[in-house]
Amino acid sequence: MKVTKAEFVISAVVPAQYPDDALPEIALAGRSNVGKSSLINRMISRKNLARTSATPGKTQQLNYYRVNDDLYLVDFPGYGYAKVSKTQRAAFGEMIERYLLSREELKLVLLIVDMRHPPSKDDISMYEWLQHYNRPVCVVATKADKIPKTRRQKHVKIVKETLGFKPYHSFVMFSSELGLGKDELWAIMESHMGT
Ligand code: GTP
Ligand code: MG
Repeated sequence: MKVTKAEFVISAVVPAQYPDDALPEIALAGRSNVGKSSLINRMISRKNLARTSATPGKTQQLNYYRVNDDLYLVDFPGYGYAKVSKTQRAAFGEMIERYLLSREELKLVLLIVDMRHPPSKDDISMYEWLQHYNRPVCVVATKADKIPKTRRQKHVKIVKETLGFKPYHSFVMFSSELGLGKDELWAIMESHMGT
C-alpha cells in the first residue's frame, strides 16, 4: 500500500472513544520495548508519529493511527512490565481483552516478538490466548538487523518452536531499522482488511 496520509487520532481510554467510522483495524501486541511503535513508523514511513509511552505497560490506552482513510493501526500498551500481575488477564488488561474479544472492526492482530531471543512466557500466553479465541494473527519477528544474515533462519526456527507457531498463521521477519519485511507485511495486512 502506498501511504499518502497517516495521522494520530486518539488515545482511547474507554470504548466510547473508539472511532465509529467502521474502518478496518489492525492491532499491535507485544511486550514493552519490543518495537511496536517503531514498526508503525516504518510501515507508514514516518519517523516519529508513534511515540513510546512514558509509562510502558501501565496505561490501558489504545492509540489509534489512521492510514490513508483506509484503516487504523491500533498500538497497544506493551505487556510484561506489571510486576503485580497475577494472571495473564491482569497483564494485558481487561479493556484490551474486551477489545480483542468483541471489536468487530478488528481484522488482524500483529503479535510482535524480538527475534534475538526466544519468545517470553507472556508472548506464548498471548499467542495461545489469540488462538483460543480464534483471532486472526500474524507473528512479526522484529529487530532482524541485530542478527547476522546467516543466523536469521536459525532464530526464526527458535521463535516458531518456542511459540508453538501454527503454519496456517502468517509470519514475517522484520526490521524497523532496515525496512526489511515491510512490503510483505503490507501485503498480509491488505489481504485481511476486507475480511
Ligand atoms: P512500548 O511502547 O514501551 O511498549 O515499546 P514499543 O514496543 O513501542 O518499542 P519502541 O518502538 O519504542 O522501540 C523500543 C526500542 O527498540 C527503541 O530504542 C527502538 O529504536 C528499538 N527498535 C525498535 N525496532 C527496532 C529494530 O527493528 N531494530 C533495531 N535495531 N532497534 C529497534
Ligand atoms: Mg510504543
